[in-house]
Amino acid sequence: MQKSEIFKKDRKYVWHPYTQEKHSSNIVITGGQGARLFTDNGRILIDAVSSWWVNLHGHANTYIADKIAEQSRKLEHVIFGGFTHAPAVELAERLLRHLPSGQSKIFYSDNGSTSVEIGLKMACQYWFNKEAKRTKIISFNGAYHGDTIGTMSVGARTVFSNPFKPYMFENIFIDAPVSGHENEAVDQLRKAISSEDVIAFIFEPLVQGTAGMVMHSADTLSQMIKICRENNVLTIADEVATGFGRTGKFFASDYLSETADIICLSKGITGGFMALGATSCTEEIYSAFYDDSKMKTFFHGHSYTANPLACSAALASLDIMEDEKTWRDIERISLRHTSFLQDIEKYAPAVSSRQLGTIAVVEIKTSEETSYFNPARDTLYNFFIENGVILRPLGNVIYILPPYCISDEELDLVYGIIEKAVIKFAPA
Ligand SMILES: Cc1ncc(COP(=O)(O)O)c(C=O)c1O
Repeated sequence: MQKSEIFKKDRKYVWHPYTQEKHSSNIVITGGQGARLFTDNGRILIDAVSSWWVNLHGHANTYIADKIAEQSRKLEHVIFGGFTHAPAVELAERLLRHLPSGQSKIFYSDNGSTSVEIGLKMACQYWFNKEAKRTKIISFNGAYHGDTIGTMSVGARTVFSNPFKPYMFENIFIDAPVSGHENEAVDQLRKAISSEDVIAFIFEPLVQGTAGMVMHSADTLSQMIKICRENNVLTIADEVATGFGRTGKFFASDYLSETADIICLSKGITGGFMALGATSCTEEIYSAFYDDSKMKTFFHGHSYTANPLACSAALASLDIMEDEKTWRDIERISLRHTSFLQDIEKYAPAVSSRQLGTIAVVEIKTSEETSYFNPARDTLYNFFIENGVILRPLGNVIYILPPYCISDEELDLVYGIIEKAVIKFAPA
């Protein structure tokens, strides 16, 4: 297709996510290389948000591309009910090696929402199989766990979920243990557990991404997991956004002294190449389904479960994750973020900042409250695009979450544009 036709035909035939189509104008991307994306009219954009947090090792990474091509000539896909294959088995073994100890089995799906939906259903059916009547799930205020009805039900009630309210199940919301509110969070958890028949407590460990990259205490979250364990309540760590090095450790759970019973993975799992989700669980959970009775089967699956191409992309991405150079890059990015954020603090109180590993946040104070719909969002987004950088502020919260191959020069460019935005748009 001619480059000039793509934009026109996109308008005619395609519907984009989270987009008011009446006002949309989608930029045509014709290729990518490392942290850079190329537009049809010859512009270069630095992808400082890793294309919705999925890309780890750069666009068009040749190592991953070659491994997918190799696999595609052997086996592109096979039904995973009743059949298995080497990429799925090897990936499960290697993921379990990296996951916190105690995880025992991997259940595959094809995106973050399904990996969480599966975690919720596993927890629910765990109690059903044990003939225990439990009905409630606890999650954090401001949580985001996906866009299926189930995952929306454990997420914050916002304009995103408004149309679906009648179909969503009731949930118990408690505060996240953000600085200064740790005790409230623990008290609310204890109260919820004592007064309700709770299936599980689900959380985004350490960073609530969509809420505005809100960060909370590892110690208190560990304490909360421990309380759940002592009270026979399952725990689900949604590592869809935080997994694979983003927080400076392999998983955010690696900062915790207690491990969840179920862990949900997606996004970075394939280095950003293929759609894949994975949900891990302990032997205790698995054993509640392992039975002579077919009635205890986990009746869940997707046509593309454990797609061999996606698994081979994930294996290739793991090869790169296991390379020391990647961890030097993660450290390099983290240190550079720290020094940038120290510098940007000179604009306080017009801005505030926070960081965990490769996730850096600059929050611009505005007269409106901090929220996804803060009007500063569109102004900031357009300013960044005009200046050659893809940053997708969550309202007035600007965050950088780059691929690990981003160069120092590219990072400096991103920092420079953010500082310009602060000077231009933050109140003096
Ligand atoms: C913590 C978390 N869980 C789940 C999801 C849903 O993932 P997906 O968009 O792949 O369905 C997201 C997506 O941003 C997320 O941040």
